Amino acid sequence: MPRWATPFLVALAISAILAGWFWPIDKPEPGSSGKPPSDSAEPLLENWSPDDLTLVFSGQQHGYLEPCGCSETQSGGFSRRADLLRQMDRRGFRPVAFDLGGLVQRRREQSRLKYQTMLAALGEMSYSAVGVGPEDLALGADFLLSQGQTEDSDSPAGPARPHLLAANLRLFDSDDLPGAPVASRLVASGDHTIGVTAILDPQLGGQLEAAGVLADVTIRPPEDVLPGVLDSLTRDGATILVLLSHASVDTSLELARRFPRLDLVVSAGGPEDPLTDNPRRIGTTTVVTVGQKGKYAGVVGINSPSRPSRIRFELVNLDNQRFADHPKMTEVMRTYQQTLEQLDLAASMLPIATSGNRKFLGSARCGECHTKALSKWQDTPHAHAFESLSTGRDGQEHDWVPRTFDAECLSCHVTGWEPQKALPYKSGYVDRQTSSHLLGNGCENCHGPGSRHVELVEAGQVEKSLAEVRVTLEQARRQLCISCHDLDNSPTFNFDTYWPRITHPGRD
Ligand code: HEC
Ligand code: HEC
Ligand code: HEC
Ligand code: HEC
Repeated sequence: MPRWATPFLVALAISAILAGWFWPIDKPEPGSSGKPPSDSAEPLLENWSPDDLTLVFSGQQHGYLEPCGCSETQSGGFSRRADLLRQMDRRGFRPVAFDLGGLVQRRREQSRLKYQTMLAALGEMSYSAVGVGPEDLALGADFLLSQGQTEDSDSPAGPARPHLLAANLRLFDSDDLPGAPVASRLVASGDHTIGVTAILDPQLGGQLEAAGVLADVTIRPPEDVLPGVLDSLTRDGATILVLLSHASVDTSLELARRFPRLDLVVSAGGPEDPLTDNPRRIGTTTVVTVGQKGKYAGVVGINSPSRPSRIRFELVNLDNQRFADHPKMTEVMRTYQQTLEQLDLAASMLPIATSGNRKFLGSARCGECHTKALSKWQDTPHAHAFESLSTGRDGQEHDWVPRTFDAECLSCHVTGWEPQKALPYKSGYVDRQTSSHLLGNGCENCHGPGSRHVELVEAGQVEKSLAEVRVTLEQARRQLCISCHDLDNSPTFNFDTYWPRITHPGRD
């Protein structure tokens, strides 16, 4: 059985949700009134006409399905994106949506489940096509095939999975494998027929080599395949030509130069927040980028088939002022989390060895001798970090889905994990039952696993025991804190203001 078979089966539950079993189509959705924009909120698509063709682009989600709640200011998430589409729909727009791909970031069982979840959710949002990023391909060529649209996957029960699109990608040296990404698609909308194609930069192959999938894929130079693809799209009646370019901005601009008949090139490259030089124009071609981590959606308006060069662009920040959670996406998240729990993915991860096989004992054990440090720690948010995964942030307005089985959250909210790799150490936290002593960000996340320290103290070798657990303020400032307080999860972190809040002098 392939490695990804189990999530594949369990993901049926997600399809069930998306098929509308939870909300019969005509029933109003709970909380579906959308978010009334507050006075200070930026206007959304001001003076845009619903008569224009509107295209919505996203890409490089990199695993950020929903904001984690670690800080107040995070933008993005599928829920708010679905709300954007819903708000546009209410205003009479008929948006056609495309994603550039790059849905996930890691390469593990959980990422495959996440990819499936995201693809199904994009289908629910009526996405027409999804490109392929190197991260997606790194999940395995066989896995990708299992995710592609096939003739019979248009089940009447629910929304279809969007087509995977990649004109210059071949899997297993074969042209017509069921489920393989297609080279192009035609999508009709009003008076327009959008001809869309996608490429993946061959230079991104490095990631694939690391993933061991290079042998299964061929990535041809985009300039070899695009002439034929664009010819056939034009022949088949496309009135607008769109390229989803999974390549750097420079490469995308170069493609815009070489293929002037493209109306629009959407580049996956560029900064996380592409607020400047966006859009750009090369002749009559518009080149836009939409950032990373799904913080934004790029909306393009094209006003009439006779004047296709009249293109407008708004990079919509999916903030929490204008956009609310969409109940269907909350349900997608809930099912995803429940699936993680059922599969016990976090608990079944292969743990990393600790140096010298030292063991994590838990903060209570340390507190038997270090009573002052323990009582201080208990009053800091670090002691309650696990609960935050159950309850979410204080004062947040949306429906919180507990994430206590999500390795990508546990890693900084329990004791005995590698925060950035999101992998457990041996004897680190496994689950709530076996590891109730390792909940929260305990002493040993900073001081290291303490078994040797305690053994030595108990053997009377106190002096020798100290090096086991010693950390200096300098180490803390330079590396320790920011292994968790990184830019994503703690954007306002400042050692000089944070440390005084958790300092715990005294050795008794
Ligand atoms: C059996 C008692 C005992 C236990 C349990 C214990 N310690 Fe200690 N620890 C000591 C003693 C004794 C010292 C030395 C105190 C002194 O220097 O006055 C010490 C010193 C330390 C120091 C200071 C090291 C330095 O820089 O000099 C740290 C940090 C520390 N312990 C952390 C921990 C942690 C973390 C745990 C839990 C894994 C723990 N201890 C468990 C007894 C204990
Ligand atoms: C293993 C991960 C990890 C490490 C290492 C870590 N923290 Fe934290 N820290 C967290 C988490 C998770 C929270 C949020 C706790 C919660 O759920 O409320 C937090 C919260 C805090 C808070 C409270 C912030 C607030 O908004 O009230 C302070 C202060 C803090 N950490 C300081 C530090 C300092 C200083 C260091 C380095 C000496 C450090 N942390 C190292 C994970 C970590
Ligand atoms: C790389 C480490 C890291 C990861 C991974 C992480 N967090 Fe956090 N989280 C933090 C830190 C650090 C804070 C405290 C931030 C601050 O106050 O500056 C925090 C704070 C929070 C808070 C706010 C607690 C409060 O009441 O103030 C919530 C909720 C939270 N995280 C949930 C999550 C969820 C859900 C995930 C998984 C999607 C996650 N975290 C993944 C480090 C992390
Ligand atoms: C977020 C990281 C972090 C956590 C969590 C943490 N410590 Fe510390 N601890 C430090 C740092 C950094 C120092 C060094 C402080 C210094 O040199 O001034 C320290 C110092 C100490 C000392 C020496 C104090 C002194 O006055 O010399 C002890 C003892 C200690 N910690 C025990 C603990 C125990 C027990 C826990 C859990 C109940 C704990 N620490 C949790 C980072 C942490």
